[in-house]
Amino acid sequence: MTIVIKTEEDIAKMRVAGRLASEVLDYITPFVKAGISTGELDQLCHDYMVNVQGTIPAPLNYCPPGYTPYPKSICTSVNHQICHGVPGEKKLKNGDIVNLDITVIKDGYHGDTSRMFIVGEGSQIAKRLCQVTFESMWIGIEQVRPGATLGDVGAAIQKYAESFGYSVVREFCGHGIGTNFHEDPQVLHYGKAGSGVPLVKGMIFTIEPMLNAGRREIKEMPDGWTIVTKDHSLSAQWEHTVLVTDDGYEILTQSAGTPAKPEKLAASA
Ligand code: MF3
Ligand code: CO
Ligand code: CO
Repeated sequence: MTIVIKTEEDIAKMRVAGRLASEVLDYITPFVKAGISTGELDQLCHDYMVNVQGTIPAPLNYCPPGYTPYPKSICTSVNHQICHGVPGEKKLKNGDIVNLDITVIKDGYHGDTSRMFIVGEGSQIAKRLCQVTFESMWIGIEQVRPGATLGDVGAAIQKYAESFGYSVVREFCGHGIGTNFHEDPQVLHYGKAGSGVPLVKGMIFTIEPMLNAGRREIKEMPDGWTIVTKDHSLSAQWEHTVLVTDDGYEILTQSAGTPAKPEKLAASA
């Protein structure tokens, strides 16, 4: 296990890749409406990345050991789909919740970010899950500073999520990122404060908690990629790519449309 500590040159390129990934989400936001298919969202994002940004969609043909090549350019995870939802002909309908997960490569460096979208008028139950998941991601981010540990990040997320009766998915986690899509360390979204890898200035990793409204168990679909909740309960996820700085963190996946830090955390810097 080798955690790459990024140089100033690496960091400058990661800022660009992170902003571009976030700008894909800004671009696609007005299209996320009832009646559009997840495959159409994929095609729009693909064309924007390749033809407008000059970025490479990192998911396309991505093939970790034991997997088949990922067939699309983004991940679209709807309702009880937890992550890695493969875009297709399924149309969004009013009340659906959908995670759009974008990873671009620019100049050899990766930016990875995802947001939740509520299609039309969502139920209170759906809105609350999406909001609490957003807050969980932020509570994890707020732990990040030199000397804190990855266990502090996971424990804070788990404690907050479970206080609402939600469960935290264990099988998928955040990850180091740079010239590789997924590198060390693994960033678990549960755990024990004070345990695990101590954070050091120059580390870059994602924080991307997946919260289920029901039980935490998962199931993989026959496509070999799409992950769903075993009990069919709703699931939500948010993701940012984060740099450890001298005295805290810098979010690299920021753009004009990035949702602001939640009100209830705003006091804490
Ligand atoms: N973007 C996802 C993550 O946050 C990984 C997707 S892998 C893919 O780590 F192949 F499904 F795109
Ligand atoms: Co990620
Ligand atoms: Co992602």
